[in-house]
Amino acid sequence: MRVDVISIFPDYFSPLELSLIGKARAGGILDLSVHDLRFWTSDVHRTVDDTPYGGGPGMVMRPEPWAAAFSAVASPSATLVVPSPVGRPFTQADAHELASLDHLVFACGRYEGIDQRVLDDAATRMPVREVSLGDYVLFGGEVAVIVIMEAVTRLLPGVLGNAESLTEESHAAGLLEAPVYTKPASWRGMDVPEVLRSGDHGRIARWRREQSLLRTAARRPDLFDAYPPDRLDRRDRAA
Ligand code: ADE
Repeated sequence: MRVDVISIFPDYFSPLELSLIGKARAGGILDLSVHDLRFWTSDVHRTVDDTPYGGGPGMVMRPEPWAAAFSAVASPSATLVVPSPVGRPFTQADAHELASLDHLVFACGRYEGIDQRVLDDAATRMPVREVSLGDYVLFGGEVAVIVIMEAVTRLLPGVLGNAESLTEESHAAGLLEAPVYTKPASWRGMDVPEVLRSGDHGRIARWRREQSLLRTAARRPDLFDAYPPDRLDRRDRAA
């Protein structure tokens, strides 16, 4: 997968050299380039923003550098992803969709955002997705891109050693995962649930299923209510 990130703070992206994302890049699974938007400015001050039409606080990103940047990096198969608090909520399903694409271009807005015409014009040339990480406001899109790239990279074939960890994890099935434990079996007076040490795979699977349902109902009633009733079996209902 090819990924181009455009930002006025390219230094934000050094974490993408670490750990499994760094490994995916070194291994040729992920071809990621970070670009400084100011490279596509033409004035001596390398200006990327200006005051908002209609008044109000803050600055808005001017369209010209963005248009030049997209012309330079976008391929015919590119999808533009713009993190923004006004985007649609980013979910695990979005991560799967993005992971299936050939080429992502991320545009990191700062200040009060990017001139709307940039996105409207880009949408005539390529698919554009405005995505929000949640109902809060960040300084800009940079940290959101790092989050999205973690969610996407771990779904790329060859990145995670154990493919099972993808199918069993939280959100994969629309429910939160059960609690997990490791050694020692007893710690600060708390014992690992007996069932997990029983070696009885049927009981363990049943316990995990119940914990998953209970946790989801308690912590994420929205997910629980959206869970398809035909995926609840008789024993789930009893629990
Ligand atoms: N940029 C600023 N706030 C954001 C948010 N909540 N999600 C994604 N990008 C953002």
